[in-house]
Amino acid sequence: MKVGVLISGTGTNLQALIDHTTKTDSAAEIVLVVSNVPGVKGLDRAKAAGIPTKVIPHKGFKSRVEFDNAIQVELEQAEVQLVCLAGFMRILSGQFVKRWNGHLLNIHPSLLPSFKGMNAHKLVLEAGVRLTGCTVHFVAEEVDAGAILVQESVPVYPGDTIETLQERVKTAEHHAYPRALELVASGEATLKDNNKVEWTAPS
Ligand code: GRF
Repeated sequence: MKVGVLISGTGTNLQALIDHTTKTDSAAEIVLVVSNVPGVKGLDRAKAAGIPTKVIPHKGFKSRVEFDNAIQVELEQAEVQLVCLAGFMRILSGQFVKRWNGHLLNIHPSLLPSFKGMNAHKLVLEAGVRLTGCTVHFVAEEVDAGAILVQESVPVYPGDTIETLQERVKTAEHHAYPRALELVASGEATLKDNNKVEWTAPS
């Protein structure tokens, strides 16, 4: 299955997806990486792996829909079938999310449905929970609310800071995202009309 990855930054999750799809017998192949920010490390990671890249700065567009349409054109040209958001810091339009329903994945740095939004690690530390983690989910129109594919938990230690927690959660993310990608690319997990995941045993 042809996969496009959307990024905005360092792309450590992108790297985990590249490593998984190139070094294992994967059903997924990353054919395009799109960044809305020029010069980010994730773009170098893609280039180093020989994956075509596109930079589409959101600032050049009058509206969210026009920006999303520009991404859509690139995804179609590359014949992408599944899109992975990997640290992509823009909220996508409802139109785009509908178009990719069931074929659009995101990773969030908390155990959803707890701690949605931009400051997950800060909220985790403020709440004093002793367990956090990451969630890979299908993207629904409501932010961080889609059907869940994979979660991995990590402990929260006394003395943790946003930085130490982020690092521990990212290690979990780098296991969880490749697993989720493989579940969807292999057809083991599909999104049904009722917004639930249907699980099929591997053949
Ligand atoms: C990750 O923590 C991910 O959960 C969040 O953005 C971060 C991206 O990190 N959505 P990276 O660019 O993959 O290193």
